[in-house]
Amino acid sequence: MTHARQHTPQVVAHRGASEDAPEHTLAAYRKAIEDGADALECDVRLTADGHLVCVHDRRVNRTSNGRGAVSALELADLAALDFGSWKTGRGPDEEPDWEHRPEDREATSVLTLERLLELVADAGRRVELAVETKHPTRWAGQVEERLLHLLKRFGLDAPASPAESPVRVMSFSARSLHRVHAAAPTLPTVYLMQFVSPRLRDGRLPAGVGIAGPSIRIARSHPAYVERLKRAGHQVHVWTVNEPEDVDLCTELGVDAIITNRPRAVLHQLGR
Ligand code: G3P
Ligand code: CA
Repeated sequence: MTHARQHTPQVVAHRGASEDAPEHTLAAYRKAIEDGADALECDVRLTADGHLVCVHDRRVNRTSNGRGAVSALELADLAALDFGSWKTGRGPDEEPDWEHRPEDREATSVLTLERLLELVADAGRRVELAVETKHPTRWAGQVEERLLHLLKRFGLDAPASPAESPVRVMSFSARSLHRVHAAAPTLPTVYLMQFVSPRLRDGRLPAGVGIAGPSIRIARSHPAYVERLKRAGHQVHVWTVNEPEDVDLCTELGVDAIITNRPRAVLHQLGR
Protein backbone atom coordinates (compact mmCIF):
# COMPACT_ATOMS: atom_id res chain seq x y z
CA MET A 1 0.00 0.00 0.00
CA THR A 2 1.34 3.39 -0.91
CA HIS A 3 -1.07 5.61 1.03
CA ALA A 4 0.26 6.82 4.35
CA ARG A 5 -2.33 7.46 7.06
CA GLN A 6 -3.77 10.79 5.95
CA HIS A 7 -6.67 11.87 8.10
CA THR A 8 -9.30 10.53 10.40
CA PRO A 9 -12.24 9.15 8.49
CA GLN A 10 -15.80 10.15 9.19
CA VAL A 11 -17.72 7.53 11.21
CA VAL A 12 -21.14 6.75 9.77
CA ALA A 13 -23.70 4.77 11.78
CA HIS A 14 -25.08 2.09 9.47
CA ARG A 15 -28.86 1.84 9.98
CA GLY A 16 -28.16 3.73 13.23
CA ALA A 17 -26.16 2.16 16.06
CA SER A 18 -27.57 -1.09 14.73
CA GLU A 19 -25.37 -3.45 16.67
CA ASP A 20 -26.90 -2.19 19.91
CA ALA A 21 -30.43 -1.20 18.93
CA PRO A 22 -32.91 -2.36 16.29
CA GLU A 23 -31.83 -1.07 12.88
CA HIS A 24 -33.57 1.89 11.25
CA THR A 25 -35.44 2.89 14.42
CA LEU A 26 -35.33 6.18 16.30
CA ALA A 27 -33.79 4.19 19.16
CA ALA A 28 -30.85 3.21 16.92
CA TYR A 29 -30.37 6.72 15.50
CA ARG A 30 -30.65 8.44 18.90
CA LYS A 31 -28.02 6.03 20.20
CA ALA A 32 -25.74 6.77 17.23
CA ILE A 33 -26.00 10.51 17.88
CA GLU A 34 -25.30 9.94 21.60
CA ASP A 35 -22.33 7.76 20.66
CA GLY A 36 -20.86 10.66 18.65
CA ALA A 37 -21.33 9.37 15.09
CA ASP A 38 -20.49 11.97 12.44
CA ALA A 39 -23.25 10.76 10.14
CA LEU A 40 -26.19 8.39 9.93
CA GLU A 41 -26.89 5.93 7.10
CA CYS A 42 -30.42 4.87 6.19
CA ASP A 43 -32.17 2.95 3.43
CA VAL A 44 -35.41 4.35 2.06
CA ARG A 45 -38.39 2.65 0.40
CA LEU A 46 -41.73 3.96 -0.78
CA THR A 47 -44.92 2.78 0.90
CA ALA A 48 -48.06 2.03 -1.10
CA ASP A 49 -49.32 5.55 -0.29
CA GLY A 50 -46.09 7.29 -1.27
CA HIS A 51 -44.20 7.85 2.00
CA LEU A 52 -40.47 7.26 2.28
CA VAL A 53 -39.73 4.95 5.21
CA CYS A 54 -36.42 3.67 6.53
CA VAL A 55 -36.49 -0.08 5.97
CA HIS A 56 -33.71 -2.21 4.48
CA ASP A 57 -35.50 -5.34 3.26
CA ARG A 58 -38.20 -5.48 0.61
CA ARG A 59 -40.46 -7.05 3.22
CA VAL A 60 -40.98 -6.14 6.89
CA ASN A 61 -40.85 -9.77 8.08
CA ARG A 62 -37.31 -9.79 9.49
CA THR A 63 -37.38 -6.50 11.39
CA SER A 64 -40.96 -6.22 12.63
CA ASN A 65 -43.79 -8.27 14.03
CA GLY A 66 -45.68 -7.91 10.73
CA ARG A 67 -45.51 -9.43 7.27
CA GLY A 68 -45.57 -8.14 3.73
CA ALA A 69 -43.77 -5.91 1.26
CA VAL A 70 -43.25 -2.27 2.22
CA SER A 71 -44.50 -1.29 -1.24
CA ALA A 72 -47.82 -3.07 -0.60
CA LEU A 73 -48.42 -1.50 2.82
CA GLU A 74 -49.62 1.98 3.68
CA LEU A 75 -47.92 4.11 6.31
CA ALA A 76 -50.80 3.49 8.72
CA ASP A 77 -50.31 -0.31 8.34
CA LEU A 78 -46.60 0.06 9.08
CA ALA A 79 -47.30 2.37 12.03
CA ALA A 80 -49.25 -0.44 13.69
CA LEU A 81 -46.14 -2.67 13.72
CA ASP A 82 -43.31 -2.97 16.23
CA PHE A 83 -39.84 -2.70 14.68
CA GLY A 84 -38.01 -3.35 17.96
CA SER A 85 -39.19 -6.57 19.56
CA TRP A 86 -37.15 -8.79 17.18
CA LYS A 87 -34.02 -7.35 18.78
CA THR A 88 -35.06 -8.00 22.37
CA GLY A 89 -34.21 -11.24 24.18
CA ARG A 90 -34.95 -14.33 22.13
CA GLY A 91 -36.86 -16.25 24.81
CA PRO A 92 -39.33 -15.43 27.60
CA ASP A 93 -36.59 -15.53 30.27
CA GLU A 94 -33.97 -13.65 28.30
CA GLU A 95 -33.06 -10.05 28.99
CA PRO A 96 -33.34 -7.63 26.08
CA ASP A 97 -29.90 -6.98 24.56
CA TRP A 98 -30.60 -3.25 24.28
CA GLU A 99 -32.53 -0.78 26.41
CA HIS A 100 -36.10 -1.40 25.29
CA ARG A 101 -38.61 0.96 26.85
CA PRO A 102 -42.04 -0.16 25.67
CA GLU A 103 -43.61 3.09 26.89
CA ASP A 104 -41.55 4.95 24.26
CA ARG A 105 -43.52 3.58 21.36
CA GLU A 106 -42.07 6.01 18.83
CA ALA A 107 -38.57 4.65 19.49
CA THR A 108 -39.39 1.38 17.74
CA SER A 109 -42.17 2.45 15.35
CA VAL A 110 -41.63 2.53 11.65
CA LEU A 111 -39.34 5.48 10.95
CA THR A 112 -40.19 7.89 8.16
CA LEU A 113 -37.38 9.76 6.45
CA GLU A 114 -39.18 12.93 7.46
CA ARG A 115 -38.89 12.03 11.15
CA LEU A 116 -35.23 11.14 10.72
CA LEU A 117 -34.59 14.53 9.11
CA GLU A 118 -36.26 16.16 12.13
CA LEU A 119 -34.04 14.16 14.48
CA VAL A 120 -30.93 15.30 12.62
CA ALA A 121 -32.14 18.91 12.57
CA ASP A 122 -32.63 18.77 16.36
CA ALA A 123 -29.34 16.98 17.14
CA GLY A 124 -27.68 20.13 18.52
CA ARG A 125 -24.54 19.52 16.47
CA ARG A 126 -23.74 18.76 12.83
CA VAL A 127 -24.84 15.23 12.04
CA GLU A 128 -24.72 14.26 8.37
CA LEU A 129 -27.13 11.92 6.65
CA ALA A 130 -26.38 9.34 3.94
CA VAL A 131 -29.65 8.21 2.34
CA GLU A 132 -29.61 5.06 0.22
CA THR A 133 -32.33 4.61 -2.41
CA LYS A 134 -33.43 0.97 -2.44
CA HIS A 135 -34.81 -0.63 -5.62
CA PRO A 136 -35.44 2.76 -7.18
CA THR A 137 -35.73 1.47 -10.74
CA ARG A 138 -39.16 -0.09 -10.25
CA TRP A 139 -40.56 3.27 -9.14
CA ALA A 140 -39.49 5.17 -12.28
CA GLY A 141 -38.17 8.20 -10.45
CA GLN A 142 -40.73 8.44 -7.64
CA VAL A 143 -38.23 7.57 -4.89
CA GLU A 144 -35.87 10.32 -5.98
CA GLU A 145 -38.71 12.79 -6.55
CA ARG A 146 -40.11 12.23 -3.07
CA LEU A 147 -36.62 12.34 -1.54
CA LEU A 148 -35.76 15.66 -3.19
CA HIS A 149 -39.15 17.07 -2.23
CA LEU A 150 -38.49 16.24 1.41
CA LEU A 151 -34.93 17.57 1.30
CA LYS A 152 -36.26 20.81 -0.18
CA ARG A 153 -38.68 21.19 2.74
CA PHE A 154 -35.72 20.96 5.09
CA GLY A 155 -33.63 23.33 2.95
CA LEU A 156 -31.18 20.56 2.11
CA ASP A 157 -31.66 20.01 -1.62
CA ALA A 158 -29.40 22.74 -2.97
CA PRO A 159 -26.18 23.08 -0.95
CA ALA A 160 -23.68 25.71 -2.14
CA SER A 161 -21.32 22.87 -3.05
CA PRO A 162 -21.20 19.08 -2.55
CA ALA A 163 -18.45 19.50 0.07
CA GLU A 164 -20.72 21.64 2.25
CA SER A 165 -23.75 19.37 2.06
CA PRO A 166 -24.82 17.60 5.26
CA VAL A 167 -26.81 15.13 3.15
CA ARG A 168 -25.69 12.71 0.44
CA VAL A 169 -27.55 10.19 -1.63
CA MET A 170 -26.20 6.68 -2.10
CA SER A 171 -27.27 3.88 -4.41
CA PHE A 172 -26.18 0.72 -6.18
CA SER A 173 -28.19 2.15 -9.10
CA ALA A 174 -26.28 4.61 -11.29
CA ARG A 175 -29.62 5.56 -12.83
CA SER A 176 -30.98 6.62 -9.45
CA LEU A 177 -27.91 8.76 -8.78
CA HIS A 178 -28.17 10.25 -12.26
CA ARG A 179 -31.76 11.32 -11.54
CA VAL A 180 -30.69 12.97 -8.29
CA HIS A 181 -27.74 14.71 -9.94
CA ALA A 182 -29.87 16.00 -12.81
CA ALA A 183 -32.39 17.56 -10.41
CA ALA A 184 -29.98 18.62 -7.66
CA PRO A 185 -26.48 19.02 -9.14
CA THR A 186 -24.76 20.17 -5.93
CA LEU A 187 -26.07 17.30 -3.81
CA PRO A 188 -23.28 14.72 -3.36
CA THR A 189 -23.92 11.20 -4.62
CA VAL A 190 -22.23 7.93 -3.66
CA TYR A 191 -22.00 4.98 -6.06
CA LEU A 192 -22.16 1.77 -4.01
CA MET A 193 -20.22 -1.21 -5.30
CA GLN A 194 -20.32 -4.87 -4.36
CA PHE A 195 -17.66 -5.74 -6.93
CA VAL A 196 -15.31 -3.83 -9.20
CA SER A 197 -17.00 -3.37 -12.53
CA PRO A 198 -14.58 -3.92 -15.44
CA ARG A 199 -15.99 -0.69 -16.93
CA LEU A 200 -14.86 1.33 -13.91
CA ARG A 201 -11.62 -0.48 -13.10
CA ASP A 202 -9.56 2.60 -13.97
CA GLY A 203 -11.09 4.54 -11.05
CA ARG A 204 -13.76 6.44 -12.96
CA LEU A 205 -17.31 6.68 -11.57
CA PRO A 206 -20.64 7.10 -13.39
CA ALA A 207 -21.16 10.64 -14.75
CA GLY A 208 -21.96 13.19 -12.06
CA VAL A 209 -21.00 10.91 -9.16
CA GLY A 210 -18.19 12.16 -6.92
CA ILE A 211 -17.98 9.55 -4.19
CA ALA A 212 -17.17 5.85 -4.42
CA GLY A 213 -18.82 3.41 -2.02
CA PRO A 214 -16.94 0.10 -2.22
CA SER A 215 -17.68 -2.75 0.15
CA ILE A 216 -15.09 -3.74 2.74
CA ARG A 217 -14.56 -6.93 0.71
CA ILE A 218 -13.36 -4.80 -2.21
CA ALA A 219 -11.06 -2.83 0.10
CA ARG A 220 -9.63 -6.08 1.47
CA SER A 221 -9.11 -7.82 -1.83
CA HIS A 222 -8.34 -4.80 -4.07
CA PRO A 223 -6.64 -2.13 -1.92
CA ALA A 224 -4.93 -0.80 -5.05
CA TYR A 225 -8.36 -0.07 -6.51
CA VAL A 226 -9.23 2.07 -3.48
CA GLU A 227 -5.97 3.95 -3.99
CA ARG A 228 -6.84 4.42 -7.66
CA LEU A 229 -10.21 5.90 -6.72
CA LYS A 230 -8.45 8.33 -4.37
CA ARG A 231 -5.90 9.26 -7.03
CA ALA A 232 -8.76 9.93 -9.44
CA GLY A 233 -9.95 12.55 -6.95
CA HIS A 234 -12.91 10.68 -5.47
CA GLN A 235 -13.86 10.40 -1.84
CA VAL A 236 -14.14 6.77 -0.74
CA HIS A 237 -16.82 5.64 1.74
CA VAL A 238 -16.48 1.98 2.75
CA TRP A 239 -19.25 -0.28 4.10
CA THR A 240 -19.89 -2.19 6.32
CA VAL A 241 -16.81 -2.04 8.53
CA ASN A 242 -17.26 -3.77 11.87
CA GLU A 243 -13.98 -5.59 12.55
CA PRO A 244 -11.03 -3.74 14.19
CA GLU A 245 -8.58 -4.97 11.53
CA ASP A 246 -10.85 -3.59 8.81
CA VAL A 247 -10.96 -0.21 10.57
CA ASP A 248 -7.13 -0.28 10.51
CA LEU A 249 -7.14 -1.13 6.80
CA CYS A 250 -9.50 1.76 6.07
CA THR A 251 -7.33 4.27 7.93
CA GLU A 252 -4.20 2.97 6.17
CA LEU A 253 -5.93 3.41 2.83
CA GLY A 254 -6.97 6.94 3.76
CA VAL A 255 -10.67 6.36 3.17
CA ASP A 256 -12.97 9.29 3.88
CA ALA A 257 -15.82 7.51 5.67
CA ILE A 258 -16.24 4.27 7.56
CA ILE A 259 -19.82 2.99 7.57
CA THR A 260 -20.33 0.74 10.59
CA ASN A 261 -22.94 -0.92 12.80
CA ARG A 262 -20.67 -0.09 15.79
CA PRO A 263 -20.02 3.68 15.74
CA ARG A 264 -18.96 3.89 19.38
CA ALA A 265 -16.37 1.11 19.05
CA VAL A 266 -14.96 2.54 15.81
CA LEU A 267 -14.73 6.07 17.25
CA HIS A 268 -12.91 4.60 20.25
CA GLN A 269 -10.49 2.73 17.99
CA LEU A 270 -9.79 5.94 16.09
CA GLY A 271 -8.95 7.65 19.38
CA ARG A 272 -11.99 9.93 19.29
O1 G3P B 1 -23.93 1.85 3.27
C1 G3P B 1 -24.06 1.01 2.19
C2 G3P B 1 -24.63 -0.31 2.60
O2 G3P B 1 -25.67 -0.06 3.51
C3 G3P B 1 -25.13 -1.08 1.43
O3 G3P B 1 -25.60 -2.34 1.77
O4 G3P B 1 -27.40 -3.96 2.09
O5 G3P B 1 -26.55 -2.71 4.04
O6 G3P B 1 -27.93 -1.54 2.32
P1 G3P B 1 -26.93 -2.64 2.59
CA1 CA C 1 -27.87 0.65 3.15
